[in-house]
Amino acid sequence: MDKKFAILGDIHANLDALKTVVEDARKEGVTDFVSVGDIVGYNACPSECIKIVRDLDCVTVRGNHDHYCSSGENLDDFQPLAASVVEWTRRKLTEDDRAWLHGLPYKKMVNGFTLVHGTLDTPEAWGYVFDQFQASGNFNYQITSLCFHGHTHVPMIYQKQHDDVMRIDPCKIQVVFGKKYFINVGSVGQPRDGDPRCAYVTYNVKTKEIEFHRLEYDVETAMDRVRKANLPERLATRLAQGR
Ligand SMILES: [Fe+2]
Repeated sequence: MDKKFAILGDIHANLDALKTVVEDARKEGVTDFVSVGDIVGYNACPSECIKIVRDLDCVTVRGNHDHYCSSGENLDDFQPLAASVVEWTRRKLTEDDRAWLHGLPYKKMVNGFTLVHGTLDTPEAWGYVFDQFQASGNFNYQITSLCFHGHTHVPMIYQKQHDDVMRIDPCKIQVVFGKKYFINVGSVGQPRDGDPRCAYVTYNVKTKEIEFHRLEYDVETAMDRVRKANLPERLATRLAQGR
């Protein structure tokens, strides 16, 4: 059977968003799930989201939140808001959750494409790519024509042909031989592009088509869960704002 992948990014323990995306992906005929990391952090359901991802046999790379929530490393580089949730998440995770998260690779090749959370040059440095200049460094380390990433929570296409790197707003594209694509799949659980709908991407191996998807989900319930967990109020309101 021809494979159709769903690529999920930055789920961030948002159970309601994740369930909505998985249901939609099934309707889209997705056969395989992969993830560019940050399964946990920010929202209220880390273990529940890990269980869904594991049950899907979803090939996953390590995000910075996965890394810090499953280790005891100091959080000096984190903003205070993010650090407080890492500490909360550390207390909530089971031993098994922690071991699984800590075993995730920094990058992974699947079916001829690559997955990474931030950038391929130094994945463990958690660098952000917001423009074509930052993307150009990554392309030097990208050996597959297609690489999916996340981390900024802003969906985007970076395309390289010869020495030109372009930034292209999310749209349906077909992978063309000779070009390289570094694609930010956006965030399932905490979008930051001003659109609160959850985001994910599909890739049809046979037709070479890449499609961006945005879906309404039960934001109110996700916000309630944040409040009931006594997590910072800002983490609830930003879900409604998509910021
Ligand atoms: Fe993230």
